[in-house]
Amino acid sequence: MYLLLSGTLKPKSSLLITRRTKQSQRLWFFFFFFWQCSSLFCKLGVHEKEEITMAMEDLNDYTIIKEGEAEILMHAKNEVFYNKTQVNNRDISIAVLRSFVSKRKQEHEAVLSKRASATKVSEKNAFESAAEEAPNESVVTDEKSNGETEGPEEISQDEPCGDSEEFVKTTERRVQGKLKPPRVLEALSASGLRSLRYAREVEGLGQVVALDNDKGSLSMYHMMYQMLFLIVSSSVEACRRNIKFNGSVACSKVESHLADARVYMLTHPKEFDVVDLDPYGSPSVFLDSAVQSVVDGGMLMCTATDMAVLCGGNGEVCYSKYGSYPLRGKYCHEMALRILLACIESHANRYKRYIVPVLSVQMDFYVRVFVRVYTSASAMKSTPLKLSYVYQCTGCDSFHLQPVGRTASNKNNSVRYLPGFGPAVPQVCSDCGKKFNMGGPIWSAPIHDQEWVTSILADMHSMKDRYPAYDRISAVLTTISEVCLIFLLFFAFSCLTNHIFTKWMINN
Ligand SMILES: C[S@@+](CC[C@H](N)C(=O)[O-])C[C@H]1O[C@@H](n2cnc3c(N)ncnc32)[C@H](O)[C@@H]1O
Ligand SMILES: [Zn+2]
Repeated sequence: MYLLLSGTLKPKSSLLITRRTKQSQRLWFFFFFFWQCSSLFCKLGVHEKEEITMAMEDLNDYTIIKEGEAEILMHAKNEVFYNKTQVNNRDISIAVLRSFVSKRKQEHEAVLSKRASATKVSEKNAFESAAEEAPNESVVTDEKSNGETEGPEEISQDEPCGDSEEFVKTTERRVQGKLKPPRVLEALSASGLRSLRYAREVEGLGQVVALDNDKGSLSMYHMMYQMLFLIVSSSVEACRRNIKFNGSVACSKVESHLADARVYMLTHPKEFDVVDLDPYGSPSVFLDSAVQSVVDGGMLMCTATDMAVLCGGNGEVCYSKYGSYPLRGKYCHEMALRILLACIESHANRYKRYIVPVLSVQMDFYVRVFVRVYTSASAMKSTPLKLSYVYQCTGCDSFHLQPVGRTASNKNNSVRYLPGFGPAVPQVCSDCGKKFNMGGPIWSAPIHDQEWVTSILADMHSMKDRYPAYDRISAVLTTISEVCLIFLLFFAFSCLTNHIFTKWMINN
């Protein structure tokens, strides 16, 4: 207080005031400068703004990375995700996507021809019965008595039906309109490399939407630029730059958005024929919205890189993320795939949907599954039949599966769904006398579709040059196609070793 009132402070405070005035002058100058810049930029179109941005940056700071048909620009200081080894992941996804496009077309044509022949038969029957019963009446029309035109039969979602029947019905529902090119959502896109490859390399694909929410670490220049124009994160910025860099096909097909993938997928229900999830670590937080964003009969592609968690390194974390306990058996990688599939199924079931796995692979440091998603409250009742708990002996390699559900038939031959019989094992192992650990539930139904695997492989062989990771991918797919597909866990392992042994015996 004394100091404040004493004269000794006066010269200091006047100095302070002068400094403040200078500071505020500087601030005003900066403000004026940016205001002028912003009005200059605003007078230009978006296109020109981007050109200027590119021009202002030193192009020497960029490296061009080519993978397949796509090229991306990587800034020296850029922290947008790019992992070279993920070429295997992108290649196999392209192979599956190519098969999906052609399968979807075949399914559409099959339903159209089925419908055409059904119409012919019903028209013929109607004509014959009309001729027999009322030869003098006017020709039977398609008009209902209330004047409504009869369209394709409306399908109740609760009708009891098997998988294949449901598949036909789902496809029929889709066939009501003209088949549009499939739309793809890459929910976690980073640089956009995958989306660009999809757009440029997969024929017959429609729009590809690439999302990312990365705010990244930005340079001062980028921050100011983004603040001025309310622009987008560094990943999205990089993605948009890459779209432009890849020419007209990419520009017309790929669009990039700054968005939280979960929000975007939730607000776009049943809109995408393919949803691709490729996160850092676990996909668990994205699954609930992803299963809702796929159209009926569409495909969900999903990577999980948290292998330590899925393979039993941290059982509690796995349970909290995936709702399943992993076991550290010899089959742990296969179990990781089956845990992921069970988790996707459980999210799908919440929306009366269910999955049909097409291909499930364990490669490098991750697992990746490709599943089709359908809607049917009745088919969903079969889910417990496709899930099992695993009892693993703590003393030896023996293990047993305990199905979660079973079926029984009623007197009228209809099917009842019941809890599985248990326990599947005695208190102690009959081989070694030790106790069992219980893991799961896991997906215990097939994890691949043999027909798909064969056609993906054939397709890959016919265009070897178009897959940078051809050798690796074809080896993985060949192993899957040759190994006994229906066997579970360790059986698959022993089956594989037998298979390799037999081959070795033949060759020697
Ligand atoms: C592993 S990278 C994707 C790599 C890319 N799919 C590829 O093949 O090159 C994961 C990306 O997900 C983004 N991401 C993480 N959480 C997200 C969220 N909630 N919404 C949107 N993007 C997210 C990250 O910013 C990161 O760029
Ligand atoms: Zn034992």
